[in-house]
This record gives sequence, C-alpha cells and structure tokens, in this order.
Amino acid sequence: MQLEKAAGALGAYVTGVSLAGAADSQTLFTEVYEALIEHEVLFFRDQALEPTEYRDFARRFGEIELHRAYPTVPGAPDVQVLESTAEAPSKIEAWHSDMTFRPAPPALTMLHGQIIPAYGGDTLWLSATAAYAGLSATLAKFLDGLNAEHDFCHGFRESLAEPGGAERLATAVEENPPITHPVIRTHPESGKKAIFVNSLFTTRIEGLAPLESDVLLQFLYRHLTTEEHTVRLSWQPGTVAIWDNRATQHKPVNDFFPQHRKMHRITIAGDVPA
Ligand SMILES: [Fe+2]
Repeated sequence: MQLEKAAGALGAYVTGVSLAGAADSQTLFTEVYEALIEHEVLFFRDQALEPTEYRDFARRFGEIELHRAYPTVPGAPDVQVLESTAEAPSKIEAWHSDMTFRPAPPALTMLHGQIIPAYGGDTLWLSATAAYAGLSATLAKFLDGLNAEHDFCHGFRESLAEPGGAERLATAVEENPPITHPVIRTHPESGKKAIFVNSLFTTRIEGLAPLESDVLLQFLYRHLTTEEHTVRLSWQPGTVAIWDNRATQHKPVNDFFPQHRKMHRITIAGDVPA
C-alpha cells in the first residue's frame, strides 16, 4: 500500500490496495485505518466493489448506521443511495460534518462513486484539526468548554418547506430534537482538538447573546473553510473516499446540474463528542 498526500492540511491518495480484499486482511485493514486517522480523508481509485463487498469492508471499521432520509441498495440495506438527477437535484450545499444533529454522530463516512458526471460534482473536505491549530491561543481558550446547539430541522429546512416535506420527515424530526455538542472536541484516537460547529446543523453557541453567537459562528465557518485547510477530490466511477467526521467537514460542489450523479454511502457509528 502506498500513500501520497493530496494537500497540505489533509487527504491522501492510497494506491496498491483492493478494498474488496481488505475486508479479509487484518494487516491491510490496520494500515488503512492508521492512514485514515493520520490523513483524515483517504481516496482510492478504480475500486470494483459489489455493494455487499463494500459493506463487508465497512464493517471492519465499526457498526454501520442507517439514515431514514435516504433510499438503500436492494439486497444491501446498510448501503445508502445518494442520487442527484435533473428532476431531483441534490439540495445539500453547505459545509458540514455528517449528522451532527445526533447525540453520537457517525465517526466515519464512505462514498463509492457509481455514476459520475463528465464535469463538476467534486467534493471538498477541510481539516477541523488544522483549523483549530490555526486559532490564536486566546480564542482557542475562550472556545474550549463552550457548547453549541445542533438541529436536524435547520439542516433539512428546505426539504421541510417543500410540499409534503414536513409529513415525509415527521418521524425524523420527532426522533431528532435539538441537542448540544462541545464547540471544540478532542479526537478519541489522535488526541487532536477540532472545531466542531458546522454551517448546516449548528444553530447557536450556548451562553452567548444571539449576535455574539451569530458573528462568532460566521467567523469560525470562514476560518474553517480557509483554502489552506481544504482538499478537493474529482470523482471517477469506482473512486472510494473515506473520511473521519470527528476531524473534518465536507462540502459537495453542485455544479453538474442537470447531469446524473450516483454514490453509495455507508456511515460508521461514532461516540458522543467530548
Ligand atoms: Fe455529508
């Protein structure tokens, strides 16, 4: 297995690995996992993986989570289908870490490219640990110990406003009341601190006046998304990306409309951020 860094702050291309085989090899799995903790997002090209092989590989990382808002692959219910077409374009535009509206958001997410547009549709990631390291000591100290509210309804507000949206998402809304997480979390394995607020799901920082919270969140979003904290992947069919939601955020670039894009997604359970 070879690694080649993709950018300064995070990301590495992995070559010389078939993920279909990695499900059965403890050595290979350990190498991949250690690389993931170090580089925060890994890219693998040309992975011919059946959905069941993909699921078997993913299971090595932990418990697979389900997400009620998305359809799944027939015969592999733990593999979600993310599809964007001219009739039903993707709506998620904002930088985020996955499902932070949950008390224990997923530790890892992986995507396997199925149908990839001829141009556009890249994904961006940022390193929230690099962003934390780039804060002044004074601001880092101020943020440490604060909590912020995360809300499913904030992230899905456009879908909720659509005709029939509130009815379709009623169960998800009921199951996911607003919750709080630390503004700065410590990665359970690397020990690195990361900024853990995101523009999709975070609504406010507790203990601050509304304007203080709004302006500070806007600063943090701008700081997080500084170009030097990011890496960009151009997808090909068969590309697999695996990322650590505890250390990164990501953003889809929705510049491929009306082309068709389809991904297979798996999310791995995480712990309560601390
Ligand atoms: Fe996401």
